[in-house]
Amino acid sequence: MVEENVKVSKAPARVHADRGFGVRAAPRRLSEVSSDVDERLHTRIDELSRVLGGGVVPGSVVLIGGDPGIGKSTLLLQLSMDLGRDWRVLYVSGEESERQIKMRAQRLSGLDEKPGLKSAPGTVALPEDLFLVTETSLPLILEHVNEVKPGILVVDSVQTTYLPQLESSAGSVTQVRETASRLRELAKSTGMAVFLIGHVTKEGAIAGPKVLEHIVDTVLYLEGDRYQSYRLLRCNKNRFGATSEVGVFEMRERGMVEVRNPSEAFLAERLVDAPGSAIAVTMEGTRPLLVEVQGLTSPTSFGNPRRTTNGLDFNRLLLTAAVLTRRAGLRLSDQDVFVNVVGGLSINEPAADLAVAAAIASSMRNVPVRADFVLLGELGLSGELRAVRQTTARLTEAKRLGFSSAVVPRRLRANQPWPDGIEVLEARSLSQALKFALLEESI
Ligand code: TYD
Ligand code: MG
Repeated sequence: MVEENVKVSKAPARVHADRGFGVRAAPRRLSEVSSDVDERLHTRIDELSRVLGGGVVPGSVVLIGGDPGIGKSTLLLQLSMDLGRDWRVLYVSGEESERQIKMRAQRLSGLDEKPGLKSAPGTVALPEDLFLVTETSLPLILEHVNEVKPGILVVDSVQTTYLPQLESSAGSVTQVRETASRLRELAKSTGMAVFLIGHVTKEGAIAGPKVLEHIVDTVLYLEGDRYQSYRLLRCNKNRFGATSEVGVFEMRERGMVEVRNPSEAFLAERLVDAPGSAIAVTMEGTRPLLVEVQGLTSPTSFGNPRRTTNGLDFNRLLLTAAVLTRRAGLRLSDQDVFVNVVGGLSINEPAADLAVAAAIASSMRNVPVRADFVLLGELGLSGELRAVRQTTARLTEAKRLGFSSAVVPRRLRANQPWPDGIEVLEARSLSQALKFALLEESI
């Protein structure tokens, strides 16, 4: 037996200090803990508010990611200008000068065309309590925060912000993680809401892939095709609301404009009765969205037939083309096949399979899909149609937009009637669905 001396640490108080919240926490009854529901800062940008779960939660950290040039700075400047009317906002930019931001703010508020006029029609006065600073060093940013004492802090971007005492360069995993955790501590201790902008790198992840996602409370991604005007704000994680919400915006000359009726917008340019076009209903979060899927087939001039997709998973198209060939008797083996989802949207739901197949078949046979039909259904390898979740919600949206009929997978159990006002055609297989949907075959 050997005696061993146990050294008692002399600083038990550090346990609290380490938490970084600055206050000693004691266990409390759940019923005594105050909730944040009523404390949210409300923004007039409804689409953003909804994605956040109903407003900005004080003390929360929100990461907004997206490709360069997609509109992150624009959206957050708009948010700052909106919140700046009621709260103090500090907008820190490491990417643009204060002049540039001012010019953008003037453009967003319509002030650039009517200079000098404070309250011309169509313009919005610049908010009094919005502060701008160009800074990349985190300690200096923290000093500015101390001075301004904002309720909302925007940091554009987390990749340009750095801590001088760390050796690695700005944008490295260590820097990004340190910066974000310091800002989180600040948010939790002061109750300030922090928005971080993060660029998505080529690999499709915010620098230090998952590095930031666990540090922040909410992760939003701004998506869309740079050359198209629609932008989707998707929620990936949210400690204060549902993650399934999606906001739709359109990038215009005067910034990001909310799209209240996305299905209408996506269908606006549709050519009725043109072959090669079919309407799918996808779920974006809890929201059904009608989109046009276009297909085009053209004889292969030499070599292997090509398949090209835009807004759709390539392998999903290969599968759909194979099922069309084998189960619906369409000779696609000597045809190039192109599929495009209109509006720069990307669909990653198998529920759109039937619409994709119908668009291709329609182009191949040169007969239009019935104009007032929507098509729902996942394709199985034997050419069967498989059930789609939330069919009722999708049908209701289709009806709202004036579609008269829908082709859906045959139900095994009919536990609920289909919604009124829309004719629902149940199909068991792809070929049966095509018979319903294509103009020629139903005559
Ligand atoms: P930006 O917000 O700078 O993108 P990010 O911060 O995500 O890199 O937006 C970049 C693009 O948006 C730019 O190409 C110009 C365009 N844009 C408009 O079309 N309208 C506008 O009102 C603004 C401010 C930008
Ligand atoms: Mg930017």
